[in-house]
Amino acid sequence: MAKRVIQPARFLTGGLSVPGDKSISHRFAILAALAEGTSEIRNYSPAADCASTLACLERLGVQTDSVAEGEPSSRVLRIHGAGLHGWKQPRGTLEAGNSGTTIRLLSGALAGQRFASSITGDDSLRRRPMHRVIKPLREMGAHIAAHNEGYAPLEFTGAALHPIEYSPPMASAQVKSAVLLAGLFATGATAVIEPVRTRDHSEIALTEFGVSLRRNGTRIEVTGQARLQPRSLIVPGDLSSAVFFIAAASILPGSKLLIAGVGLNPTRSAILDTLAQMGASIRVTHVEERNGELVGELEVAAPQTPLRGGKIGGAEVARLIDELPMLAALAPYTQDGIEIREAQELRVKESDRITVLAENLRRLGARVKEYPDGMRIGGRNESGGAGLKGAEVDPQGDHRLAMALAIAALGAEGETTLCGSECVGVSYPQFFEDLESVLKR
Ligand code: S3P
Repeated sequence: MAKRVIQPARFLTGGLSVPGDKSISHRFAILAALAEGTSEIRNYSPAADCASTLACLERLGVQTDSVAEGEPSSRVLRIHGAGLHGWKQPRGTLEAGNSGTTIRLLSGALAGQRFASSITGDDSLRRRPMHRVIKPLREMGAHIAAHNEGYAPLEFTGAALHPIEYSPPMASAQVKSAVLLAGLFATGATAVIEPVRTRDHSEIALTEFGVSLRRNGTRIEVTGQARLQPRSLIVPGDLSSAVFFIAAASILPGSKLLIAGVGLNPTRSAILDTLAQMGASIRVTHVEERNGELVGELEVAAPQTPLRGGKIGGAEVARLIDELPMLAALAPYTQDGIEIREAQELRVKESDRITVLAENLRRLGARVKEYPDGMRIGGRNESGGAGLKGAEVDPQGDHRLAMALAIAALGAEGETTLCGSECVGVSYPQFFEDLESVLKR
């Protein structure tokens, strides 16, 4: 387990681009694999999670290759789609690694195949709830066996699926997407009615691949037995990765940063509104649409006065779920602190993000109160400082917590040791190199 020392920094300056969006990469790859012909994907995420999806697809007989285009760093991923019924029975169990999106989305597609298959993941993934996808897929006629009735490994025995109308009890884009993907194999219209709107990358991508999809408020309906058309696509930069730099530039006085080509899908971009309400200086420019997704450039500068802080809850939680760790970790730098509620979903992510964050922020000297559905982190002290002191922190192998704690450590007094820092590779293998490239010490 790698230990990395994080030294305090003065400010951030310059420009960078973040890796391709992880959520969108998974969807483009899976749909390309179900399409009839060769798709080209540019800026596919280098995340280990997205490599897991590709490896599973290859084990299912889908051919992929990657060719250099211009710069050696800019590669084009080609996926030779085999059609809805062109996948082959894999030998052995598919491995989703740490990736919830891989296992839950692929479950939707595996449920509708005519062959048997199984899929599992690492220790973290095998502790995460899968009942949320098993239940609707069984309602569609899928045959699924699971460890302890709700955990990976999941075993599918091929079945013919029928359409359903499903209202998930939790806000989850992965559940929604699993049902919509299974709906591709059913005859007729499958619908999902969300409790609150979650990221709509699946809806956008399905439409891009030529599937007939209708939306009405939070109801999404897909028509099955479609023939997916191969496409040439570009993945936008991942806003959930950019947020670490946005936060750093917002808490280190004198910072000025340009982040190009970032995904700005409104179902994902609530973090920008939240930070702006807290007083952050974020200018969005050069906005354009690519393959149905909004993309733009972010100019971030340290605000004149420290961020205010505030309270997060309700429907916005789903729209910034992956950014909550960073918000929590920047809270000590705000004037009033930050309270996060109605975010119990954080407890079933790559780690129990509420408990692990609370524990580690306390080690850095933050004042934290934990609630069943969230936490409150105190802001600046009477003398106006964040009052954090370098310490040894352990994100328990959770990539987003590792990056959030690394950013919080930049403004601490003294050095911080980050245990298991290599876990950032789950979503952002080049994180520390990119951070170094814009840091001034
Ligand atoms: C994701 C959906 C969210 C998010 C995860 C990626 C997706 O999970 O936290 O990082 O790509 O659909 P849930 O569906 O569990 O909310």
